[in-house]
Amino acid sequence: MRHLIDPLYFSVQETEELLDIADDICDNMDKYSHKCDGKILATLFFEPSTRTRLSFESAMMRLGGKVLGFSSASSSSAAKGESVADTIRVIDYYADIIAMRHPKDGTAFRAAQYSTKPIINAGDGGHHHPTQTLTDLMTIRRRHGRLDNLVIGFCGDLKYGRTVHSLVKALARYKGNHFVFISPKELEIPRYIIEEYLSKSECTFEEVTDLSAAMPNLDILYMTRIQRERFDDIEEYERLKGSYILTPVQMELAKTEMAVLHPLPRVNEITLAVDDDERAKYFEQAGNGVYVRMALILSLLGMGKLDVNKVEEDHDVVVEHSGVCKNARCITNSEDETMPIFVKGDNGRVRCKFCDQYVD
Ligand code: NCD
Repeated sequence: MRHLIDPLYFSVQETEELLDIADDICDNMDKYSHKCDGKILATLFFEPSTRTRLSFESAMMRLGGKVLGFSSASSSSAAKGESVADTIRVIDYYADIIAMRHPKDGTAFRAAQYSTKPIINAGDGGHHHPTQTLTDLMTIRRRHGRLDNLVIGFCGDLKYGRTVHSLVKALARYKGNHFVFISPKELEIPRYIIEEYLSKSECTFEEVTDLSAAMPNLDILYMTRIQRERFDDIEEYERLKGSYILTPVQMELAKTEMAVLHPLPRVNEITLAVDDDERAKYFEQAGNGVYVRMALILSLLGMGKLDVNKVEEDHDVVVEHSGVCKNARCITNSEDETMPIFVKGDNGRVRCKFCDQYVD
C-alpha cells in the first residue's frame, strides 16, 4: 500500500506517469467512468476547503465510486476530543481510500502511521499539499511542455504557503530550474527547503522582494494568498496582507508565454482585471485538479501504473532527542499520545519528522 503525504513519496517517473494518466482522463473521460464502481473515498476535512474537497469528490464520482466524509472539524468527533489516530482506525472500516486535511502540520503522516488504507494528504497546516502540486505540475506541463529548465517565481506567503513548499520540492528534482522567491523577509521560504532540497539539487534560486523587477524573466508566476489563519500575531498579518498585488501593469513586463498560477482562493493579490489576460491560468489550474485526483485515486487503488507494493524509500536517520518539537502548530504538540520522532537529514541538522521544523 502507498500513501501520498509529501510530493516526494512518488518518484519523478511515478509522478510523470500519473500526469500522463491525468492528461488521458482529460481527453477521454468516458473511458474511466466505471473504474471505481463499488469503491468509497472518505474526505476528512478538519479545515475549510472548496476546490480540494469538491474536486476529490467530483473525481471519485466521475470514476463511478462513492464518497463520504465531513467538511469541518466541528461536525466530526474531533470536536469531542477524539485523536487523529482513533478517527483513522475507524474510517478504515468505512472507506477504501482517505483524503484528509487538518490545520496541524504533520497530521497526514500521523494518520498514515495507523491507516490500513491509502492516505492522501490534502493539506497539513502550513506544511505540505502534494495533490495541489500534481495539479500545478499538470498545468505547467500543459503550458510549457516540460518541467525542467524553467524560471519559476513564487510570490507572497512563502513561509506558511504549503502549496509552495510542496511544489518547490517537486520541481527541484528537475534539471535547470531557477526559483525566484519573492516575499517580505517575514514570510520567506522555510530554511529546510533550501538547505535540504534546493542546495543539493541541479537548480538555482534567489530571494528578492521586488515583483516587478522579477517579472521579465519568469516562465511561471505562482501567486499565493497571505495565510491569515496561520499568523500568531494578527497585527503582523494586517501589516503584510497587501505586500503584493498583481495588476495588468506588471503583466505588461512579462513574457507572452508566461503563465500565472494561483492555488486559490485569492483575496486581493491578483486584481480581477488580470483574469482577462490569456496568461491567467488559475481557473484552468483548478479544473485540472479533478483529472489529477482521478489519476491519483486510480493509482493508489492499484489501477494506474503505480507499483502499490513498493516500499517507500526513507533517507532520514532517526536520532535520539529528548526535547519537544519547537513548532506550536505541529501535531506532536497538540495530541499528547503523538510521540515526536526526530531525524537527521543530509545536512546533519536535527528536525521533527512530522513537520520538518529544525530543533537546533
Ligand atoms: C490552498 C491551500 O489550502 O493550501 N488552496 C487549495 O487547496 N487550492 C491555498 C490557500 O489556502 O491559500
